[in-house]
Amino acid sequence: MATVHSETDARNTRNREVLPMPDLTFTPELAREMEPYYAKVAKVVTPLEWPQFAPLIKAINDLKKQRNAVILAHNYMTPEIFHCVGDIRGDSLQLAKEAARTDAEVIVQAGVHFMAETSKLLNPDKTVLIPDLRAGCSLASSITAEDVRMMREAYPGVPVVTYVNTSAEVKAESDICCTSANAVKVVESLGVPRVIMIPDEYLAKYVQTKTNVEIITWKGHCEVHERFTAEELEAFRAADPSVKIIAHPECPPDVIKAADFTGSTSGMIDWVKKHKPAKVVLVTECSMSSNVAAEAPETEFIRPCNLCPHMKRITLQNILDCLLYMRHEVTVDPLVAERARRAVERMINLTN
Ligand code: 13P
Ligand code: SF4
Repeated sequence: MATVHSETDARNTRNREVLPMPDLTFTPELAREMEPYYAKVAKVVTPLEWPQFAPLIKAINDLKKQRNAVILAHNYMTPEIFHCVGDIRGDSLQLAKEAARTDAEVIVQAGVHFMAETSKLLNPDKTVLIPDLRAGCSLASSITAEDVRMMREAYPGVPVVTYVNTSAEVKAESDICCTSANAVKVVESLGVPRVIMIPDEYLAKYVQTKTNVEIITWKGHCEVHERFTAEELEAFRAADPSVKIIAHPECPPDVIKAADFTGSTSGMIDWVKKHKPAKVVLVTECSMSSNVAAEAPETEFIRPCNLCPHMKRITLQNILDCLLYMRHEVTVDPLVAERARRAVERMINLTN
């Protein structure tokens, strides 16, 4: 026990060390050193923007080594974050799985608060940081633990499947978690005729089209995806009938019906990489199109640019600050964490 404590203390001391502010000047030497990074984003970042990004990218990547840190970057991060400082990139499921595997001492979540909480649940002894604590989610704030207890009372014995886009307190009241990548599989794994699936009404309705299990849901919506309309999609098709339209399952049912394919953010990316359409509309958060465009030169991306204000709170500058000052640590009450972890791990074990 004593050894464990002293190791933790030594680690914490190292990670609390005050480090000097890095030099953020864009010199010709730095420009040369950063050329391989610019090559990754040259299709989506202009030469005018690069001198502001390059010194921050270099400083963040150096700091990661000093802090033994890893950056988990969600698919909605802007390209300079996603491609140039993200170590592990992907959708919520991939990030949760990788968070469970990392041996870095510090995890920086380039994503929103519920994702950082999930990382903390799976890594209780690690330091989990989020560059801006205000990076929330309209789905996560649509439901409380008390609401889940009320649902259980209203439907006794019906298991609760909870979307990962929720707080740890809500996960703690749940039987199992799911993401948009595995929701159907999770629902069917329970072997029951009826489940409560919270809090995303549209994801639940989408899953209902794929399974005979009866789904009772909640009225939560994603503030980004609920704004898309079927009329908008029809206008894209009218402008060019050859266009491919792919949508995230957080979209309203008529939008999903009008799409050629529906999947999680990574499911959508894989679809584009596999099918290589000449022209595509990704009906989801706008930055994802830029991230895929950086790697898919043969495809033209039509961008209905709905931005997630929470994801967009994460910037290179606040990632640098969070590593420099080791600030905005995400913690979860151990009693809540124990129950919430069970629901997340049950999902991960099912999809591994
Ligand atoms: P994914 O799990 O598909 O990455 O979705 C997370 C999210 O917040 C979508 O809005
Ligand atoms: Fe939440 Fe929607 Fe933003 Fe995803 S895009 S984090 S579901 S508000």
